[in-house]
Amino acid sequence: MTDLRKDGAAALEWAARYLERVDQLPVLAQVKPGEVRARLPATAPDEPEPFEAVLRDLDHVLLPAVTHWQHPRYFAYFATSSSEPAILAELLAATLNSVAILWRTAPAATELEGVVLDWTADLLGLPPGWHGHIEDTASTSTLAAIIAARHASGRDLVVCSEQAHSSVEKAARMLGMRLRKVPCDEQFRMRPDAVGEGLNQAAIIVATVGTTASTAVDPVPELATACERAGVWLHVDAAYAGAAMVCPEFRWAFHGVERADSLVVNAHKWMLTPTDCSLLWSRRPNDLRNAFSVTPEYLRTPDAEDALSLSEYGPALGRRFRALKLWAVLRCYGRSGLQAEIRRAVELAAMFERWVDEEPGWQLCAPRPFSVVCFRLAGADERNRRLLERVNATGEVFLSHAVLGGRYVLRLAVGQMRTREQDVQRAWDVLRRESSRL
Ligand SMILES: Cc1ncc(COP(=O)(O)O)c(C=O)c1O
Repeated sequence: MTDLRKDGAAALEWAARYLERVDQLPVLAQVKPGEVRARLPATAPDEPEPFEAVLRDLDHVLLPAVTHWQHPRYFAYFATSSSEPAILAELLAATLNSVAILWRTAPAATELEGVVLDWTADLLGLPPGWHGHIEDTASTSTLAAIIAARHASGRDLVVCSEQAHSSVEKAARMLGMRLRKVPCDEQFRMRPDAVGEGLNQAAIIVATVGTTASTAVDPVPELATACERAGVWLHVDAAYAGAAMVCPEFRWAFHGVERADSLVVNAHKWMLTPTDCSLLWSRRPNDLRNAFSVTPEYLRTPDAEDALSLSEYGPALGRRFRALKLWAVLRCYGRSGLQAEIRRAVELAAMFERWVDEEPGWQLCAPRPFSVVCFRLAGADERNRRLLERVNATGEVFLSHAVLGGRYVLRLAVGQMRTREQDVQRAWDVLRRESSRL
């Protein structure tokens, strides 16, 4: 049997010790595909085991196969953080196990979700009055926006830039909709002049504020004008960069977003909240509700309650108490704490960018609006590919890559809350050391 107090104390101790020593572990898991499975029994135990056994195997079997997203030298994809208040709130949410299928099954979870979405909208400078709810991921948030736009317009075309996240293409494919990818300018922003004729056949344009490869910002005001003229839904994907809007100096990137029909920002990317917590706002909640509301008899409650049930605004029926962790983050960091995290990450990225810029034989490959630097060694793509493999194999740092303008580039994404100057310095040292050994 599990003793919540005794085993809970051990689990909490495990979590605290893990965070204290994570910087000493190799960032990228040093295992081969299949190794973890091979170390685990093929079937569940017949008899109950103590929780201690789970913790023991976490240490011995699983930990060596963990890629450490909480590591200060995690610089791949978009670095994310799970902060202490959110870790504790996840425990409490699991303890309550609220399942928000309807308002009455989870009034606290439902109404807190509305409140934290309003609070976050205010922190990010969004207009008041937007309807917000939480989806698991930006992929689902964007899927939901596309479904609502198709339902409202009866059209079957999705438009996004060639730099848009693959979740847009995946959504279009899942929905059997046509997709048009608009070319970008030399700074990887969607070219509004290339959106072109026939826009009035589109259900939706997905603009990106902070593209996945280089964090470019699409020209939202121009796209909003085009959408308004053609009666097209404008969805803004700010999954990564949206969090930066808590700082007034980055709000230029949200210019025009107030004219969007929907917007997604992932709290689980740059807002100290563990996966999953994707924030979806809409100016047209009735269109979401029209698309998603299916109420069989067993779920029927009085109308006033129905309108509050957030399962009516997205694909999932059972919704977990995700708002609790975001609430904990917003309260324990406050506006100033969130701003400090964003600013520190951007300053560290700017510092790295300067080092690359000043070093002969290295090149910057894209403007850096936020905390991601795209760069490469001068020369062939293959050299850069080999360099990345060598660098990641050291376990000292973990970076990822992108293709920009047809060239293979390396990306250093700062965003882990534990990253300090010495960690970025170490990344630069490893990159230069390994490049000299190629
Ligand atoms: C701009 C952008 N949109 C959407 C996504 C998908 O995010 P999620 O993993 O939450 O579906 C990503 C992932 O990095 C992204 O960079």
